[in-house]
Amino acid sequence: MCGIVGYIGKQNAFPILIKGLHRLEYRGYDSAGVALISPENQLNIYKAKGRVSKLENSCKSKDVSGHIGIAHTRWATHGEPNHSNAHPHYSQSENLALIHNGIIENYVVLKEKLIQKGYTFQSETDTEVLVQWIEYIKESNKTDTLAAVQLALKQVIGAYAIAVIDKQHPDHIIAARKSSPLVVGIGENEFFIASDASPIIEYTNKVIYVEDEEIVILSQSGQPKIISLSNVEKTPQITQLEMDLQKLEKGGYPHFMLKEIFEQPRTLRDCMRGRINVDCNNLALSGIFNHKEKFLKARRILILACGTSWHAGLIGEYILEEFCRIPVEVEYSSEFRYRNPVLYPDDVVIAISQSGETADTLAAIELAKKAGAFVYGICNVVGSSISRNTHSGSYTHVGPEIGVASTKAFTAQVLVLIMMALAIGKERNSISQKQYEQILSELDLIPEKIKSILKQNQAIEDLSKIFTYAHNFIYMGRGYSYPIAMEGALKLKEISYIHAEGYPAAEMKHGPIALIDNEMPVVVIATHDATYEKTISNMQEIKARNGRILAIVNKSDDNIKKIADYIIEIPQTEECLGPLLSIIPLQLLSYHIAVKKGRDVDMPRNLAKSVTVE
Ligand code: F6R
Repeated sequence: MCGIVGYIGKQNAFPILIKGLHRLEYRGYDSAGVALISPENQLNIYKAKGRVSKLENSCKSKDVSGHIGIAHTRWATHGEPNHSNAHPHYSQSENLALIHNGIIENYVVLKEKLIQKGYTFQSETDTEVLVQWIEYIKESNKTDTLAAVQLALKQVIGAYAIAVIDKQHPDHIIAARKSSPLVVGIGENEFFIASDASPIIEYTNKVIYVEDEEIVILSQSGQPKIISLSNVEKTPQITQLEMDLQKLEKGGYPHFMLKEIFEQPRTLRDCMRGRINVDCNNLALSGIFNHKEKFLKARRILILACGTSWHAGLIGEYILEEFCRIPVEVEYSSEFRYRNPVLYPDDVVIAISQSGETADTLAAIELAKKAGAFVYGICNVVGSSISRNTHSGSYTHVGPEIGVASTKAFTAQVLVLIMMALAIGKERNSISQKQYEQILSELDLIPEKIKSILKQNQAIEDLSKIFTYAHNFIYMGRGYSYPIAMEGALKLKEISYIHAEGYPAAEMKHGPIALIDNEMPVVVIATHDATYEKTISNMQEIKARNGRILAIVNKSDDNIKKIADYIIEIPQTEECLGPLLSIIPLQLLSYHIAVKKGRDVDMPRNLAKSVTVE
């Protein structure tokens, strides 16, 4: 949700800021803007509705000089995406400019007070209220900008990562965070700020993760200074980043999403590396091992997540219950945090998040921690808020996921959950050594099996042409394939804008079967598993009503060939590993349908990669 970036140093700020915005564009892309303090001490703000490239083009004839600047790419919360609502926003005097990621919940009250004092507003945003409020405090208290920011943020309710520049003090950037991510990059006599490390990594691998209610002051001379809202100075903790710049590029693929789908054989191997031994008879997850008492004594496991990560959690429920014999509940973080859940100190909570910044999941974690539960994080982004706010955890190690539709992060989340179930099951003696080793050996074959599915990319692309007419899709599966039906449907709807629903196949006759006619494509995951025969019966019920079936089947399945209109073959595997294979053709199918429909696959409308507002 919104990307912020800032630069102060000896170089021209503008190209660095624009490049940074391109890297952060996956976070929000309905408008973009930049504020620069020129060598003549002008505070220039330029904005454009739409993508960063529009901003870049519109600045060609403008004065973009200056060694200090801040920039923003927006995912609208307050006010429609247009020029005036785009950030940065000026204060009344036009001395201050501010960018913001988050939501100021009490902005209406503050705005009313400001209007009474004679302030006027150019936008409908909560952000403009904040910059005006800072200026109001600065002037009424006759204080400097830093003290005004401190005081203003104490009065603000909500979430923010902000950066402010002041043309009367052109040698400073003041930035702060609460519940929205903020990273500072430390170069040679130059500093960067950003919502994540991707705009920074090109210049330095030294970063500081700003904590909640901390303010950071960056100046042309001297080192970054960190103070709390209550004015306590803190020693900055510098972290070395290990991020590969190449991984932020498309590498010859037309879209990040396709690249990320094709990366899965490697990313799953990376996720297993150092965890499963070469003989495939042992598995070590240090996050589990170091806290094994918690898992041995667990009364229950609660999995909290949103979206695709929640689907991974549903697969986790099946596998953890099967191999660990611990009751598991899976909840949307957003529901969990606002009800009054019963939590016990011997509950283990698993929080799953690709970005590690999802606001609802972060809040749900806080709730669980307050109740004394042990919280284990499964995150992809190293150093993210969730990874730092959990007691233990495992990274998925898939590298940056840029396409808004999650693909490689999903399969790695499922893989981590499988490894967790095996590790905990072994500690609890609830899985036999034979089964344990059998699954580990089969896991080792998964990357090659995915490669064999990816070879069918062209065939899946051809198949996708048949379905571009559809306005609705149903996906169905049973057991481990039921969450895959939901994930397949989510992938299709988010990037192609075709309405799609995933159901447990047996539920069809309780209502959804009324939707079936000869125009309704039904995607069935019908691999050889415990409910294979039952799934065939469900397919017969669809055929009897003229539905058009695309079935995901194991190789050489002649039974289903006779029933389904179209099939995609995938290799056989252990039942609990099936999701790692069956999701691959569904990712490709959604991708190709979306491309055929001319959709913006990597940046679909209304979505953003990192949901830092609730
Ligand atoms: C769908 C998708 C979203 C995310 C959800 C949670 O493709 O990407 O549904 O899964 O917003 O995000 P994280 O995993 O970052 O917490």
